[in-house]
Amino acid sequence: MMNIFKKKIGLLLHSALQQVSPEQETTLPENLEKLIENPPKPEMGDYAFPCFTLAKSFRKAPNKIAEELSQILAASLTGEKEVIAVQALGPYINFSISTSLMASLTLPQMINGSYFEENKSGDSERVMIEFSQPNTHKGFHVGHMRNVALGDSLCRIFRYNGDEVIASNYIGDVGAHIAKCLWFYMNHNQESAPDHLRGEWLGELYMKAIQKLESSSPEEAALFQSEISRILKHLEEKEPELSKIWEKTRQWSMEDFKTIYHWLDVKFDHFFYESQVDESGKKLVLEEFEKGTFIRSEGAIGIDLGDVELGFFLLLKSDNNTLYSTKDLALAKKKFDEFQIERSIYVVGAEQTLHFRQVFETLKRMGYAQANQCFHLSYGLVALPSGKMSSRSGNVILFSQLQEEMNSYIQNNYLNRFRGEWTEEEIEETTRRVAVAAIKYGMLNQDPNKQIVFAMEDWLVSEGDTGTYLIYAYVRIRSIARQVERSLSVEVDFGLLCHPNEHALIRLLYDFNDVVQAAGDQHRPSILARMLFDLAKTFSRAYQTCSVKHAESAELQSARLLLFHCVAETLKHGLILLGITPPERM
Ligand code: ARG
Repeated sequence: MMNIFKKKIGLLLHSALQQVSPEQETTLPENLEKLIENPPKPEMGDYAFPCFTLAKSFRKAPNKIAEELSQILAASLTGEKEVIAVQALGPYINFSISTSLMASLTLPQMINGSYFEENKSGDSERVMIEFSQPNTHKGFHVGHMRNVALGDSLCRIFRYNGDEVIASNYIGDVGAHIAKCLWFYMNHNQESAPDHLRGEWLGELYMKAIQKLESSSPEEAALFQSEISRILKHLEEKEPELSKIWEKTRQWSMEDFKTIYHWLDVKFDHFFYESQVDESGKKLVLEEFEKGTFIRSEGAIGIDLGDVELGFFLLLKSDNNTLYSTKDLALAKKKFDEFQIERSIYVVGAEQTLHFRQVFETLKRMGYAQANQCFHLSYGLVALPSGKMSSRSGNVILFSQLQEEMNSYIQNNYLNRFRGEWTEEEIEETTRRVAVAAIKYGMLNQDPNKQIVFAMEDWLVSEGDTGTYLIYAYVRIRSIARQVERSLSVEVDFGLLCHPNEHALIRLLYDFNDVVQAAGDQHRPSILARMLFDLAKTFSRAYQTCSVKHAESAELQSARLLLFHCVAETLKHGLILLGITPPERM
């Protein structure tokens, strides 16, 4: 998709430069428009061209060049549709563009829907985005939601940008933590399993197992450890009795996860399981060892990545048991061979950075060309106001608790006033949407690499940079349309939308597709979140200054109605890309 305003500015610049100095002009880059920026303040204009790059070839100070060029440019504007004014400001040339042209190129296309399909016309890739990857037999807590929010939003953004996305999950259903949980479940548990959220309950048993081990005497601990080792061994050997228990309890966790994803509006196209790549991982490592890609060290198998400063990467234990790394190789192979993906994104916490660098380097040495298209999207921790989240110390908010607390806050503060007027279903569904908006927005409005502090009430207030604020902006615009007796039309006089706040809104709408493109290219939904927040704030300002209800004329009312409707449409599309479905009223 092309920004015709930048394109035009590029052309104007080229011809002005030609007049200043025909020889130098030919040595300049073709696409001067790539250098165009947004001025820091809207009063300065719509686009700014920095003259620093020209200083060298023109042997003049940037300020001087800006001055000279802007005079030539200003003189050449007669008859131009796109650009209406040019002005030098220090080393920058600032351009003001025709708002009515911009509006006429955007608003009707938003109404017929074609605008929101434009990003699909670019290059398309087959991408797998792996995210969430919870471990069974452990509780799902608010910290896990960051990964889900990020991964799901990226899937939506990539799809909007025209890629073919396979959303995948990779369930941790094997390993020592399961042996500990099952050890407690079989030997020490007195309770019977609850009817609902049995996975969360298993997580509690796992915690109790850890506590029991930590508080036991040395003799007891030795006994317990040997019991747990035996369970682990039986699990690995798929001993039938134990396998049954493992399968049953694993199912409990899976049911929890599915309930949570459903509540969060998150869908996966494919589920991988660690248990499914355990055997194939071992086989793969042994094969590569035969081929000479891997070496043996103290009985174990691994690969020496010392030359690229990634150390020795252990791939199979000396007792032939698999590791986390073993399975990741088989998983990657499966993704490449069975799904024919061109790009592979792993959404995983920053603490696994070294692991993924080692995995990708190993895949490369195994001969996988796709290894260069593997990307670890790492993200920072979620803490609580009381400090680091830790299941061990009990400083966590489990899903059930989160859902309960959010529901009661939302109903008490926002929705109880509608009881009697709305159906019970609408109250329930709106509660869910507000809760999901608050969580996802709070997880996405920060850059992935920043740590986040989850403070439920701060995320649920209706003012400030919150999901709730954006939802309120959206429903408010929807209600404006209901207040006037005018039907929506695209046959309006765009020239009437000349208030600075209207201009700002038009510009934000025009830029929406570029913002979504950038959010995908940089794997940062936060870029989109920021833009939506700006849009909602600008709308709130316009709401004060540019009333639809009290517009001075019928023509102006029509034009504003169209503009505000498009703001609502854009907010909705943008929120959906963050995984948020706003309610229609509140
Ligand atoms: N389940 C793992 C954990 O909790 C994360 C899996 C990440 N994905 C991968 N392909 N290794 O640490």
